Amino acid sequence: MKLWGGRFKEEISDKFFVFSSSIKFDFRLAEYDIIVNRAWAKMLERIDLLSQKELIRITKALDEVQEDLQKKRLRPEESSEDIHSLIEERLFTYAGSVSKKLPVGRSRNELISTEVRLYLRDVVDEFVMKIKNLQRKILAKATENAKIFMPYFTHLQPATPGTVGHFLLSYFWKLERDKKFFKFVKEEANSMPLGSGAVGGTTIPIDTEFLMRELGFSKICENSVDATSERDFIIYFLEACANLQVHLCLISEDFVIFSTPAFDFLELPEAFSTGSSLMPQKKNPDFFELVRGKTAKIIAGLDALLLLLKGIPSGYNRDLQEDKIHLFGIIDEVNSILELFPNVFSEIRFKESNMKKLIEKGEICAQSLAEYLAMKGVPFRCAHEIVGRIIRDNETLKRKMQDLTLDVLKSYSEFFTADVIPLLSPEGILEQLQTPSSPQSLSFEAQLRSAYAAVEE
Ligand code: ARG
Repeated sequence: MKLWGGRFKEEISDKFFVFSSSIKFDFRLAEYDIIVNRAWAKMLERIDLLSQKELIRITKALDEVQEDLQKKRLRPEESSEDIHSLIEERLFTYAGSVSKKLPVGRSRNELISTEVRLYLRDVVDEFVMKIKNLQRKILAKATENAKIFMPYFTHLQPATPGTVGHFLLSYFWKLERDKKFFKFVKEEANSMPLGSGAVGGTTIPIDTEFLMRELGFSKICENSVDATSERDFIIYFLEACANLQVHLCLISEDFVIFSTPAFDFLELPEAFSTGSSLMPQKKNPDFFELVRGKTAKIIAGLDALLLLLKGIPSGYNRDLQEDKIHLFGIIDEVNSILELFPNVFSEIRFKESNMKKLIEKGEICAQSLAEYLAMKGVPFRCAHEIVGRIIRDNETLKRKMQDLTLDVLKSYSEFFTADVIPLLSPEGILEQLQTPSSPQSLSFEAQLRSAYAAVEE
């Protein structure tokens, strides 16, 4: 059944029909098409375009279509052009000719946009829930590893000492921003296009306020030309996904590096690692590599949407149908990543002694020694120079920073006194950190409290 056969003398080419049909991918919107049809039928009865009896008939038929969907008796038939025509067809089977009254005053252009918005609202809720789940796992692991020291890096070179707990909280705040972004996306998707017609409204007195309430939208789109063709809410959603993925890639990259025998900071769970068919010793971090790999598709999908939109004029154009191919593909990938990530994450075990070894090797108390001298009145650039010299001599004399005695330190600057000794160990340095975002233990506890509060919001 075609929804537009009247003006055509010739039949559509079979191959072109298959080429143009979207049922293969928009079938996933079936449930939302039924929801919109229910609301639409109720609205038509309110404006006297359906009698009460007709409404009951249509509603009952929609129940049957829904049951077909649940029992998998409704399938993406090849003979359907899209989800709207498939449901319309099935509705006709159950309600007969009265169903032909239903599509009055509306176009598939506004329908598809409405249904994608409804669907995206649910997807966003699901994603936010899953991000929260990952955040909770991060908080648990950060609490468990609050006192485990590790070196922090810049340029992947040892920089200053910190704790695993504080380091893991850095992931938490990235995800917190992702959550906010997704909530913004939901708000953007929460405008209702119905009433816009194909592009310029309708002469039928559609009760848009009623539809808005019935479908749980928070507002009605302002302009019919814009409403039927804009896809900004999809762009925002894909941007939020791309951003989230970039964050998950960073975590993945950290764990891939930290799990190599060269670092050996952590043990990856066997259940989420793979071996080599040739080299029996291998334990590879494939999960994290695949998160990185799949991100290519996700960022490419965002690009695809932008490219799709950049070349079309105002009003609906069929190009827009392709938006869903990218959108749905990305939703499935991100969803499966968000499903697995928390499980893999919570199985990671950190290796305290290996991290400690690198702390000692990396001379990472240098900054605090220079700051110590600065606090004693040595201009910072001079203090930096003095500590630089100590490091240089350590290298040539094969000494280690933590083995330096007060006498040796004094030979570099008279400002070194006994209270410098704690600054030769990560414990001592951490306790002397002064700023609220630092890994100092009280600061960390405060950060942890606000993170717990944020995740329960
Ligand atoms: N399958 C179409 C899409 O996804 C629905 C809208 C069709 N509109 C039209 N004028 N052919 O965009």
